[in-house]
Amino acid sequence: MRVITTLAELAAAREAWMGEKQSCGFVPTMGYLHAGHLSLVEQARSENEVAVVSIFVNPAQFAPSEDLSRYPRDLPHDLALLEAAGTDIVFTPAPDDIYPPDFNTYVVPSGALAERLEAAVRPGHFRGVATVVLKLFNLVQPSRAYFGQKDAQQVAVLRRMLTDLNVPVELLALPTIREADGLAMSSRNSYLGAEDRLAATALFRALQAAAASFNASADTTIASLRRTMIETVAAEPRATLDYADVCDPATFEPLAELRAPMLLAIAARVGPARLIDNVLLNRDGSWNMGRRIGGQDSTR
Ligand code: PAF
Repeated sequence: MRVITTLAELAAAREAWMGEKQSCGFVPTMGYLHAGHLSLVEQARSENEVAVVSIFVNPAQFAPSEDLSRYPRDLPHDLALLEAAGTDIVFTPAPDDIYPPDFNTYVVPSGALAERLEAAVRPGHFRGVATVVLKLFNLVQPSRAYFGQKDAQQVAVLRRMLTDLNVPVELLALPTIREADGLAMSSRNSYLGAEDRLAATALFRALQAAAASFNASADTTIASLRRTMIETVAAEPRATLDYADVCDPATFEPLAELRAPMLLAIAARVGPARLIDNVLLNRDGSWNMGRRIGGQDSTR
């Protein structure tokens, strides 16, 4: 495994794999890796000749009031995990290489995707995400890029960007990886103390309850799905709901009536952490709830 820190070194490595006509699978991350990230790396490796992972805590996607300075970081541990996962190249650029002092061009998503849910709670967030991901795609020039379905709105924003800007990268969204009790894996779970950690399962329980009510009754409505999610989170005193929504997974427009595909999306604050989760009702009527693996290897 090679660890590359400069743009010039990355360009040379890219020329080499492209010269040999090798396909590149790319996993962009902000580090503090968990089993969810590693599932993306595993898929990137299995589908491509070269697997590249970036670790870059992107300042442009954090509002001044957010957790940029305390965002968890552990590069030595990340590198050990990536080495064990068979990564070929890890790219860890310096902030000044991605955003030089005269940097002045951003990708600004618009429409419901860039206005509702995460975009409403975190103004500017998707501008930062779209900008850094397009820059990383230009630098790495991957054949395929791998993201977690947990960040469903990020996936939808990036798919839109790739289509709108004719970016020749195939984006794959892989199932959410969960702890044994259903909590979606996230680097931000590290903010949770023991009691908040237990309370944090309220998001998954809310999604599960809504999906179960959808399966159980023909009388289910958008309003009743939302109510089920809201009531489940309200029953957990340590959790404060930001939103519980039922929307189109591609546009993030709210749905007027139940249909597949359909995304149930939820966000809540639990102690010091702000957590998001979702489940997707597929076109064939099955729920994509992700995969539970749990156990000591998946938690940090
Ligand atoms: O999902 C993340 O970790 C980040 O938003 C990403 C895609 C690496 C961009 O900074």
